[in-house]
Amino acid sequence: MKHLVIANWKMNPMSLKEAISLAKEEDKKDVVIIPPTPYIPALQTVVKKGSLGVQDVDPINAVNGPYTSALSPAFLKKFGVRYTIIGHSEARANLGESDAIIAHKIKSALDAGIIPILCVGETKEVRDMGYTKAREFVLDQLERGLDLIKGGVGKIIIAYEPVWAISTNNEGVADDSEGAGEMIQNIKAHLSSSMKLWAQYKIIGVYGGSVGVNNVGVFLKERSIDGFLVGSASLRSKEFLRIVEIVNG
Ligand code: 13P
Repeated sequence: MKHLVIANWKMNPMSLKEAISLAKEEDKKDVVIIPPTPYIPALQTVVKKGSLGVQDVDPINAVNGPYTSALSPAFLKKFGVRYTIIGHSEARANLGESDAIIAHKIKSALDAGIIPILCVGETKEVRDMGYTKAREFVLDQLERGLDLIKGGVGKIIIAYEPVWAISTNNEGVADDSEGAGEMIQNIKAHLSSSMKLWAQYKIIGVYGGSVGVNNVGVFLKERSIDGFLVGSASLRSKEFLRIVEIVNG
């Protein structure tokens, strides 16, 4: 199976012109490009081989209507959006996003036919208490995030992004590959241990946190890892394309 490489541009770049040229360069098969939402309409015609995603959705089930400030998954789908990040640690920390809201977002995304990328990951404080505590923390986030969709059907991506490994600019603080592989294995095992609830879902596990050309090959050796969620390196197209090449040849 080919691995999925997801480019999370976060709140970058600063101009539509740069966004279009970055998207043109990074548009490859098995790549998901996730720009800031205002760039979505323009990139709809640029991203052809890969897919488009957004960094968040609102937990609204309607396609349109009197929902001031909201962007529902069904509405965004009309702009060619196929994936959405939900529960990124930066949104949890900066926007006060709760597990209850995240669970609603997951449900409304799946109901609209948008593939959710649920981000889970422990903070440094939790990790310092040991791997067992980190696993408990991550599985708890997972349970809460998926709370409203038990027994349903669809495709879900779980992104394991240890908070302490994010935005280190690939300077050696990324999670150790075995730890990441083991955590994603734990996530999958946890979901399949309650098979009745999850048998109808296709679960894809990706790793994120300072992924770059220097470490992606090591993570790739972990069999439980089905892809990568790339932040800062996805803003440098040459580096990003090298990652895609290492991952999918
Ligand atoms: P970095 O690759 O910049 O660490 O970001 C990871 C991330 O948060 C992707 O969602």
